[in-house]
Amino acid sequence: MSRVVAVTGSASGIGAATAALLRERGDRVIGVDRAGAGVDVVADLSTAPGRAEAVAAVTDLTGGVLDGLVTCAGLSRAGAPQVSVNYFGTTEVVDGLRPALAASSAPRVALVGSISAIQPHDAALVDACLAGDEPAALVLAEAALTDGRSHEIYSSTKAALSRWLRRVSVTADFAGAGIALNAIAPGVVLTPMTAELVSDPQWRQVMDRAVPMPLNGYASPETIAYALAWLLSAENSHMAGQVVYVDGGAEALARP
Ligand code: NAI
Repeated sequence: MSRVVAVTGSASGIGAATAALLRERGDRVIGVDRAGAGVDVVADLSTAPGRAEAVAAVTDLTGGVLDGLVTCAGLSRAGAPQVSVNYFGTTEVVDGLRPALAASSAPRVALVGSISAIQPHDAALVDACLAGDEPAALVLAEAALTDGRSHEIYSSTKAALSRWLRRVSVTADFAGAGIALNAIAPGVVLTPMTAELVSDPQWRQVMDRAVPMPLNGYASPETIAYALAWLLSAENSHMAGQVVYVDGGAEALARP
């Protein structure tokens, strides 16, 4: 069954692989990104107006009926924009597209979390995200940046996403409207985001200690795309609020 699916971050890495896989399977894919080849909606998800533009454009292009949404847009470079893109650029787009999703007969949303969600993070920053307070979250991210905890920003955005997902997936707006909302949390994936780290032997060691992947090592973006595609499928009718670790075993090792 051909479905209409929007993919954020579709210009690169996991988003590009997911868009390609879904197109190959016959779906109509609407790519959303800042720029790039094969992008149908150009929008900057780091700002509220950019998110609103993306929501309006996708709603327009689909005629108000959207079967699936995958949120891959994200930043790994430490800084306050990580909060705006990774967390608010996900939750506001999901919320904005909820009416179009609710109009589908089998709506599915798949977020991209991260193994980082279980790593040390800033509890106040997570709480500010969950409270929907972007200005406060940005102040806390700036503070983390200046006091040597810049690595906590990324993990905080992903921890907040996991918690948001569990809260909202079971509400009347999502489960009650038939919208299955879940996430894939990758370990290390070979994309432009990790290319520099992976090619540096010292950083590789740091990463391998932080994210050991005994099952098959680093993943390809296609591997993550297959998992996302299943979460999006009509067959996924009863999973809600789950974060599925596709991480070569890193999460099981960290939480035995
Ligand atoms: P990538 O850097 O290849 O792709 C990210 C995409 O997001 C790019 O196309 C970029 O233009 C887009 N994006 C960034 N800021 C944006 C903005 N303001 N507005 C619109 N689009 C924007 O990265 P990759 O690896 O494909 O990452 C995808 C998702 O997977 C991210 O959320 C990342 O945090 C997550 N992830 C990646 C892992 C990895 O090892 N590569 C591991 C765990 C999670």
